[in-house]
Amino acid sequence: MFLGIDICSTARLRKALERSPFLRDEVFSPAEVEYCAGARVPEQHLAARWAAKEACLKAVGLSVLGYDLSRLEVVHRSTGQPELAVRSPELRADLERVTGSRSFTTLLSISHETDYSVACVMVMP
Ligand SMILES: CC(C)(COP(=O)(O)OP(=O)(O)OC[C@H]1O[C@@H](n2cnc3c(N)ncnc32)[C@H](O)[C@@H]1OP(=O)(O)O)[C@@H](O)C(=O)NCCC(=O)NCCS
Repeated sequence: MFLGIDICSTARLRKALERSPFLRDEVFSPAEVEYCAGARVPEQHLAARWAAKEACLKAVGLSVLGYDLSRLEVVHRSTGQPELAVRSPELRADLERVTGSRSFTTLLSISHETDYSVACVMVMP
């Protein structure tokens, strides 16, 4: 079992997107951008998604630089509970390799406060 956590500052994410607007599409999927745009403070939810992607890769000791992060997507179950959809074939292959399992699963939990968002990810073989 692998566990990762990450925290992301809302202000830092906002500044990064102002400086480099292309990051929005590079890091987040269209559905993530749409979901966050509908929130009162979109950057807070984008920060949570950045933290979720970092936490997943941190859990298994992989680098965020190695993958198309927009294809590691935060989605919601019908209950509202968030989960990760691993749509990047490269990342899926590496997660299979690290976990030693073709049927690995992930668990995700997200929380926000005004200034920071946190995400915790568990990866299980
Ligand atoms: C889920 C809940 C704990 C969120 O707590 P909160 O203090 O308001 O907000 P937080 O900042 O800590 O967490 C927000 C995140 O919780 C997650 N979340 C939402 N619903 C959730 C659920 N049912 N279970 C687990 N996580 C949930 C989301 O990922 C959300 O972040 P996002 O909108 O960026 O994806 C709270 O709304 C709650 O108790 N809801 C009751 C459960 C419920 O509504 N169930 C629906 C049954 S159909």
